[in-house]
Amino acid sequence: MNENEQWSSRLGFILAAAGSAIGLGAIWKFPYTAGQNGGGAFFLIFILFTLILGLPLLLAEFSIGRTAQSNAVDSYKTISPESKWYRVGIMGMITSFILLSFYSVVGGWIISYLYKAVTGELTGLSSDEYAQVFGSTISNPFVSVFAQFLFIILTILVVARGVEKGIEQASKIMMPALFILFIILVIRAVTLDGAVEGITFLLQPDFSKVTSQTILEAMGQSFFTLSVGVSVMVTYSSYLPKSQSLPRSAFSIVAMNIFIVLLAGLAIFPAVFAFDLEVGAGPVLLFNVLPTVFSQLPFGMLFFIAFLVLFLFAALTSAFSMLEIIVSVISKGNLDLRKKWAWIIGFAIFIAGIPSALSYGLLSDVTLFDKTIFDLADYAVSNVLLPIGALLIALFVPRKMKKSALYEELKRGSSLKKGLFETWYFLIRFVAPLLILFVMLDVLEIW
Ligand code: PFF
Repeated sequence: MNENEQWSSRLGFILAAAGSAIGLGAIWKFPYTAGQNGGGAFFLIFILFTLILGLPLLLAEFSIGRTAQSNAVDSYKTISPESKWYRVGIMGMITSFILLSFYSVVGGWIISYLYKAVTGELTGLSSDEYAQVFGSTISNPFVSVFAQFLFIILTILVVARGVEKGIEQASKIMMPALFILFIILVIRAVTLDGAVEGITFLLQPDFSKVTSQTILEAMGQSFFTLSVGVSVMVTYSSYLPKSQSLPRSAFSIVAMNIFIVLLAGLAIFPAVFAFDLEVGAGPVLLFNVLPTVFSQLPFGMLFFIAFLVLFLFAALTSAFSMLEIIVSVISKGNLDLRKKWAWIIGFAIFIAGIPSALSYGLLSDVTLFDKTIFDLADYAVSNVLLPIGALLIALFVPRKMKKSALYEELKRGSSLKKGLFETWYFLIRFVAPLLILFVMLDVLEIW
């Protein structure tokens, strides 16, 4: 049980769960993956998957966590004793471990950029020069590993202190601030000369570019941005008082997420086209493009610094959830154990992430399946582990939880129309498993 770790309010929970969801996925990963996958069609498929798979799965994870009131592994044991389903939670811990190992690398990129922006090294450069500076920063082995280390230390410090104290307070200010800054950025980006091409790229679907790989990546992206498939949301919802409505929380998290993905797209793509940058640049896209957009604003560097601080915060609130799920299983509510294990696991993740941190420099030639270590970790998590985790959760819920009990759980705190509940149940029971399997097998070209 998590007696000592309840959120102080519904808002606290929403902010923390939304904090886990909104992060590098929407702001950094979405633009570059959409850029590599043709833009509009990818965006549309991503939205569809978010609504028919991501949202129902988020609710499924919430129901598991709040029914069982326990961590990611014990929740499955409580609901289905004497079965092997708890392994879904263990798989989530492994996924989280790998995820944080490369997520922290990108977190480190933000920290290094922040350092450069504050020390004036980024002032007055051309868009090509920004790309060069960024390229040389992330290829420097010392800088990238040290920055990744700092990011992990920040994550550990918050998780070691326990759930609500650290995360809740700061989220209340930082998230709204991030939204506002993004809106300013979008206004600047869409009014650049030549912005229309970028807007069209994002909003006009061109299905001729869609392959089974595009569809898999859009599905992986929708799980990634909602933190679904890892049992992170199982863990978080176990801290939520019984009186709060799960569907309402899930809807607002999904709505915020889609909004921020749209804002990120509208901030990046118009600028990519206006400045003639490379839309398929990959993971470096955001970092190459954004400084140029900011440099077009009055007080641009100040805005850029503010943006980096908020972006770092958004990345951290996601990173907390990844470490939290592992630590909460091991420490089982004991605060001393929590402190100790936050440091041990955090440090292990740092070590495991070093090869990813070196993937843009020393180890750039080390590839497997044509991917660097960093790309491989990202691909394995987004397009293999998250979909399998999501598939297993979709299989678990209707098999191991009573339909009537699920209805009761989802109905708490607000009136949930029976029809909506039935739709959710249908999506989880039939649509999710079949669709996830189909999309995954389709890529393997089994038929
Ligand atoms: N949703 C986070 C993001 O978009 O940055 C990433 C994430 C966090 C994925 C936690 C999965 C997870 F369990």
